Amino acid sequence: MVCLGNICRSPMADVVLSHRLAQAGLTEFTVTSAGTGDWHVGEPMDTRAAQTLASAGYDPSRHRAKNFDSTWFAANELILTMDLANRTDVLSLAQSEADRAKVRPYRAFDPLAESPDAEVPDPWYGELDGYVLVLDIVERTTDELIRFLQR
Ligand code: 4NP
Repeated sequence: MVCLGNICRSPMADVVLSHRLAQAGLTEFTVTSAGTGDWHVGEPMDTRAAQTLASAGYDPSRHRAKNFDSTWFAANELILTMDLANRTDVLSLAQSEADRAKVRPYRAFDPLAESPDAEVPDPWYGELDGYVLVLDIVERTTDELIRFLQR
């Protein structure tokens, strides 16, 4: 899961998918997340993101922000980007067609996405309701991702 700062959207997507995979007993999958920017490396999740997750029964406490770099292509089979800028930044680090083929928009798995280019809106500059909206998107997209991974 990749976003800009790795303290809001991608860690929320990471925690919810990890939680549901564990619930479903799908232990063969490992989920992680990173940001294309490095400003927050080593920091825990944004408190608003953590609060939104905790209110819905997820544990946000283990997250520490990481920076996406080209080594992530070899280390991961599927790279899901939260918005188009994240996608452009990630693709600029790809070194092969195989790298590029791993990169998909996160909301390509959202059954309610209005277009194939739909983005997860960046909640960082807004209020708590933006985080609730992100969790809504993440929960329904996670359901679809679980079905995809099971197939
Ligand atoms: P995220 O949100 O990409 O969903 O983690 C942001 C977090 C931090 C910043 C921007 C977006 N920032 O500019 O520091």
